[in-house]
Amino acid sequence: MDNENSSNEKIEIELRQLSKSFKEVVAVDNVNIRIRKGEFFSLLGPSGCGKTTTLRMIAGLETPTSGDIFLEGKNVTYVPAFNRDVNTVFQDYAIFPHMNVYENIYYPLRMKKIPRKNAHDKIINILKLVSMEGFEHRFSNQLSGGQRQRIALARALVNEPKALLLDEPLGALDFKLRVAMQGALKELQTELSMTFVYVTHDQTEAITMSDRIAVMNDGMTHQIGTPDEIYNNPNTAFVASFIGEMNFIKGVVSESRKDTLVVDVFGNKIQCGKNKYDFGNNDKVLVCIRPENVHVNPVKRMKNEIVTKLKRVVFRGNDFEVKTAVQDVDLSAVLDQKGWKRLDKVDADVKMGWDEEDTIVFPMDMTENMIHY
Ligand SMILES: Nc1ncnc2c1ncn2[C@@H]1O[C@H](COP(=O)(O)OP(=O)(O)OP(=O)(O)O)[C@@H](O)[C@H]1O
Ligand SMILES: [Mg+2]
Repeated sequence: MDNENSSNEKIEIELRQLSKSFKEVVAVDNVNIRIRKGEFFSLLGPSGCGKTTTLRMIAGLETPTSGDIFLEGKNVTYVPAFNRDVNTVFQDYAIFPHMNVYENIYYPLRMKKIPRKNAHDKIINILKLVSMEGFEHRFSNQLSGGQRQRIALARALVNEPKALLLDEPLGALDFKLRVAMQGALKELQTELSMTFVYVTHDQTEAITMSDRIAVMNDGMTHQIGTPDEIYNNPNTAFVASFIGEMNFIKGVVSESRKDTLVVDVFGNKIQCGKNKYDFGNNDKVLVCIRPENVHVNPVKRMKNEIVTKLKRVVFRGNDFEVKTAVQDVDLSAVLDQKGWKRLDKVDADVKMGWDEEDTIVFPMDMTENMIHY
């Protein structure tokens, strides 16, 4: 299901048919990923999908059950962690409490027997890079969570690894700080043009920061692509449901033309474009439409229109979510503040309309247990 275009760009990290089982648990299941040099690459998926295990195998902290790992074309599958030119930052990466910031950052260089006087400029530069100049003499308990993570980053970067592996490094921070650190991390990565492999279960974080994303579920990669490809052109029902918000409507194919599929949804004929799969008449399907593509009481007639009952309007700060239902199908739309004035009371009829290009259709049998609510 990978969606990689062939490119001449240099590959920094390659995972080939990589699997890892812990007794009967298959944590990583035949993963194939090629990460380009200088790329911000994210592993995204729900809890337990195998992100950390994949990252730990790249780092050399876990031995694969089968498959191979290449760093810059060299097979490192059985090379110990300390001989791999990568460094890892974890969510709870604690810096040494008995050393000040300066000594913490010097530590990896000291391990390499680099004399203090030769390391000094490097340490000061790396502190500048993470915007922590002037904090040299502070100890861990005199720093905020975000500052501590910056020092952890500095310590991981000071050895100038080929790639930095980050496992939910911002997970312990509060929302505002997390957003600020996301920006700082992205800037840092661009400035260094270093390969970052970033693990997160937060789709917004992955979408806003990454050049490309591998979406994982149950140890498998469902799609590898740019944030735009993954959002607008999901390969599987799981990706469609995990990334962003989505309406799902079950239906039956009543007509299968070259570019358009007509799907019967309790008597309404829905026209669907942009189909990745071949369908025949009477196939059971799942039609997906993003709420931002649904128009509430459209002024102009649209290709697809369904009359629903208004259930609830949720104010979300920037916009309103309009929740409606028809029979047992929920259908949501997103409206700006102006749009809301046109709506009636709960249980009133609301016409929901959308274009055929804004639908994505998946075969029903591939959606079993795959929709992520
Ligand atoms: N050392 C281990 N022994 C046994 N099972 C393990 C071990 N490490 C991971 N697992 C299992 O492997 C699967 C994948 O775990 P992993 O930690 O890679 O998930 P994750 O995607 O990082 O999840 P989270 O978002 O919660 O961190 C899970 O079912 C987990 O319970
Ligand atoms: Mg994890």
